[in-house]
Amino acid sequence: MKKIELKIEYTELDGDNELNIEERALLQKAREASDMAYAPYSNFSVGAALLLDNGITVTGNNQENVAFPSGLCAERVAIFAAGANYPNAAIKTIAITCKSKQFLVSEPLSPCGACRQSMSEYEVRHKSNIRIILQGETGKIKIINSVADLLPFMFKAEELKK
Ligand code: THU
Repeated sequence: MKKIELKIEYTELDGDNELNIEERALLQKAREASDMAYAPYSNFSVGAALLLDNGITVTGNNQENVAFPSGLCAERVAIFAAGANYPNAAIKTIAITCKSKQFLVSEPLSPCGACRQSMSEYEVRHKSNIRIILQGETGKIKIINSVADLLPFMFKAEELKK
């Protein structure tokens, strides 16, 4: 028997002013994307902005549907748009913000499991870690160094080849 301990490290910041210019701009684009979310059922708007290694930014926001499971989270809207339009570009950073019409989101959003799995595929595919910047409505920021830190036991393509 062997017990294994996993450790992750992340950074907390008090506000945008502690970010560099590039990260601040990306977070701003995520916020602008959240303004255009289609979230009439949850009233919870999420915006995601990805910075690719070719310098291009791709954004997305949550798109809901009256048949609830047919909607999609902001992260996957953005990541699939990047995969569809720039298949050879690695994703360097993703900024994700959220806001609610019903309450003040005081903590940075934590991406859902399905989005973590979807993002992990791109990290593995391009052999390049994706930095994740998270913010709610009150300024507080969390920075995580890779999707693998958020989902250490992700399902990988190798599992299909065994
Ligand atoms: N949502 C996202 O866009 N990203 C997440 O990581 C979690 C949840 C969306 C889905 C739905 O439109 C709304 O937030 C409420 O769950």
